[in-house]
Amino acid sequence: MAVECVVENGIAKIIIDRPKALNALNSEVLQELKKAIAEIQTRTDIRVLLIQGGGEKSFVAGADIAQMSDLNPLEGSEFGRLGQEVFSSLSELPFPTIAVIQGFALGGGCEIALACDIRIASEKAKFGQPEVGLGIIPGFGGTQRLARLVGPGQAKKLIYSADIISAAQALAIGLVEQVVAPEQLNEAALKLAQMIAAKSPNAVRLAKIAINQGLEGSLEEGMRLEASIFGLCFASPEQKEGMTAFLEKRPAKF
Ligand code: CAA
Repeated sequence: MAVECVVENGIAKIIIDRPKALNALNSEVLQELKKAIAEIQTRTDIRVLLIQGGGEKSFVAGADIAQMSDLNPLEGSEFGRLGQEVFSSLSELPFPTIAVIQGFALGGGCEIALACDIRIASEKAKFGQPEVGLGIIPGFGGTQRLARLVGPGQAKKLIYSADIISAAQALAIGLVEQVVAPEQLNEAALKLAQMIAAKSPNAVRLAKIAINQGLEGSLEEGMRLEASIFGLCFASPEQKEGMTAFLEKRPAKF
């Protein structure tokens, strides 16, 4: 098994651990990831997911080049669709997801990070979409999600050049949200997860829907969606608890 999933105190952790190939994604790893995501999808006790690579050197070094090298166009398309399906199920999880990136996040590895809500990286992490150097294009959502996250200009620069960039450069273009010293990465990721996990899970999940669905349409449509979801919050006992706790000058219990 290359994919492990543990849940502790409402925080799920998925670890992709295939050290001999720097955690590269072959069909087996993708199927294991698909299964792990399916298993946590409907669990109401989970408030946040952390996803990380095993070992110190690599988050995920991309799709498995050895496996892809002999694919025909039909098989290539099937492999791409499998990766897209798995990463879409990751991005559609109802609770927040955080990619914790300690080393290489290249190709499919960068694309997993893009499918998460938030990316937190070590100063040593490296990012890139090196696919055009292999005669292919990013195939697990990279051409779409990267352009949406950092804008078409920066996405085109990275994808056309296959350049590998540092965590500091990734932060500067908005490809990651936070960069910390390598020895602080796990602690910083856990701290962020715990902050999120302490808040109203209903409100956090609804905020994710409002942001993600709102970005699919116009600002006007997004505003209407926000108003509906804002109203829906008042049907939740968590709204009563959150506001009562404030007025009673005590921490809210969710
Ligand atoms: N697929 C398969 N094996 C990989 C791999 C990958 N993506 N990345 C690394 N490995 C393997 C290496 O082949 C090597 O195996 P052996 O020990 O059996 O030779 C082992 O992992 C260690 O790698 P290196 O010896 O190359 O380590 P390094 O420190 O010298 O270099 C690296 C590290 C810069 C990440 C280099 O391994 C590399 O360039 N890897 C490929 C990165 C890449 O191109 N990723 C994109 C893949 S395409 C893709 O992802 C398409 C898509 O969008 C779906």
